[in-house]
Amino acid sequence: MNKEVFTLTSPDGNTMELPVRTGTAGPDVVEIGRLYAEQGVFTYDPGFVSTGSCDSEITFIDGNEGVLMYRGYPVEQLAKHSNFVEVAHLLLYGELPSADELAGFETSITRHSMLNEGMLRFFNGFRYDAHPMAVVSAVVGSMSAYYHDTMDVNNAEARDVFTHRIIAKLPTIAAAAHKLTAGQPFIYPRNDLNYAENFLRMLFAVPAEEYEIDEVAAKALDLLFILHADHEQNCSTSTVRMAGSSGANPYSAIAAGISALWGPAHGGANEAVLRMLKEIGNAKNIPKYVEKAKDKDDPYRLMGFGHRVYKNFDPRATIIREMCHKVLEKMGRTDSPLFELALELEQVALQDDYFVEKNLYPNVDFYSGIIYRALGIPTSMFTVMFAIGRTVGWVAHWREMITDPHGRISRPRQLYSGPAKRDYVAVEKR
Ligand code: SDX
Repeated sequence: MNKEVFTLTSPDGNTMELPVRTGTAGPDVVEIGRLYAEQGVFTYDPGFVSTGSCDSEITFIDGNEGVLMYRGYPVEQLAKHSNFVEVAHLLLYGELPSADELAGFETSITRHSMLNEGMLRFFNGFRYDAHPMAVVSAVVGSMSAYYHDTMDVNNAEARDVFTHRIIAKLPTIAAAAHKLTAGQPFIYPRNDLNYAENFLRMLFAVPAEEYEIDEVAAKALDLLFILHADHEQNCSTSTVRMAGSSGANPYSAIAAGISALWGPAHGGANEAVLRMLKEIGNAKNIPKYVEKAKDKDDPYRLMGFGHRVYKNFDPRATIIREMCHKVLEKMGRTDSPLFELALELEQVALQDDYFVEKNLYPNVDFYSGIIYRALGIPTSMFTVMFAIGRTVGWVAHWREMITDPHGRISRPRQLYSGPAKRDYVAVEKR
């Protein structure tokens, strides 16, 4: 790591040299940790637009070039040649597994997919129409009430048991959340199915008949899980790191990440895109909605457009758009009006000066919902699908954070603009 310095000059003229660090790729960082102690000032960066929170080896994004790499492997190559369980091993342990390592890892994940029977009773406490994200975040949080053996974050074996357990059980919990709202019986996982096949069967099978796995659907789902697996220090991943930095148990940290993902500005956007497309209804209404999104006085935004980092195409959106065509074709749904409307909306937006000058391109959430819908997945489950893939990234970042020998609790400071010191006034004198 070659070190240089960044010289700061304060208003009263004194200077301070701050070390600069260079990573493998991407912008250098300026280490400002000594700034407050030596200059008595904080930096100020609401939303962390220019702030690096950690030194990570997991995922790299180049927003200008539309690059996304997991442990150095371009996501396009992993999407083409790999599968989700192998990508999970890569993100978690840093290397593509050997054939034996992959077999062992996949067997462990498969064999930990059942839930404690006591947890199943937990689902009965929710209203029949509870949103699946509320159910999934609550049930994941409740895992800390069942699995006391893996709460010691400083124990490597406990960390590994937690890692396999949460990745294995997320699809089972997600499918159970759907069955609750569908009023159907819970379907147990099967050890002869792969990750995506098992999830599809738990989601759609009913005891009244045999369920036949649609291999096109399973392959599309496996690819979507790969594309959603990680994305460096996004809102929900930073939430997991922040919650875990206090030493909180890992199940609670992941539950915090699920809650952060739910927001429509983040993972909740895929559900919001479908609702937006249904509201637009047909192509003649597109200009009205684009104008509404451009109106400074209107908080309305085009869901599925824009990104904090990508100021070019989101590479995931490109892959998913192409996959849309294939899945719809193979499922005989080429006349999907929603997909046609999405393609038309993308063209109109990308030719509009406002979207061009603000570098607003379709992001990962713009097309994913169309595929989920084509697979028969209910709109309310779309963000849950995102959470299944992203759990691998959350766990990889949690492991990296908790094993950092220089790790500290995350505790940002602030600019205080509240009232100056004042004395209490008795209620009869107010
Ligand atoms: C994800 O961080 C990640 O990596 C996230 C994610 C992941 O994998 O973890 O990639 C997943 O969350 C994708 C994003 C999904 N969200 C949406 O699609 C919701 C719609 N998009 C926006 O809300 C917004 O674009 C964000 C939240 C995605 C990004 O917000 P920023 O970086 O804070 O950008 P901004 O709000 O400062 O916008 C910059 C300008 C603003 O105009 P000005 O104030 O400069 O005049 O662009 C405008 C915004 O008003 N703008 C939009 C817009 N997005 C931004 N205008 C209309 N429609 C939009 N969608």
